[in-house]
Amino acid sequence: MVRKILMVCLGNICRSPLAEGIMRSKLGDEYLIDSAGTGNWHEGETPDHRAVSVARKFGIDISGLQARQISTTDFEFFDLILVMDESNFRNVTALIEDEQHLSKVKMILADRDVPDPYWGDESDFELVFELLDLATDEIISQFEKL
Ligand code: 4NP
Repeated sequence: MVRKILMVCLGNICRSPLAEGIMRSKLGDEYLIDSAGTGNWHEGETPDHRAVSVARKFGIDISGLQARQISTTDFEFFDLILVMDESNFRNVTALIEDEQHLSKVKMILADRDVPDPYWGDESDFELVFELLDLATDEIISQFEKL
């Protein structure tokens, strides 16, 4: 049964904190949702202000989240690890030592990347929010099969 979900992107300040906030807003307290980055540049920082502001527009508060880097203990702890793009997928799976954990890692959107909005503008963050809103609905509808 899926109960613990980790959202992963590169910096853990744009896409994965948004995915965490959106997913948490759709699920009850029996689920534990967290996020992490493959990189460590932003460790300890709160999410990018543009991510905070697009989330706020939709009634979701992610302002208190803190970035951290993914660690090997996450593969043991989480049931499902959702990555934002192909590059995250490669970086995350490269860290896995126990082959049984490989099946926990999935692209959050089956057929495309959630584009990195860091170097973009507000509209890129809006697109990311829309994609993650759809992606999380789809993932929730497939929980039984995961
Ligand atoms: P994220 O976006 O992976 O969605 O959090 C990025 C944030 C920071 C950087 C790259 C992507 N960076 O290069 O610092």
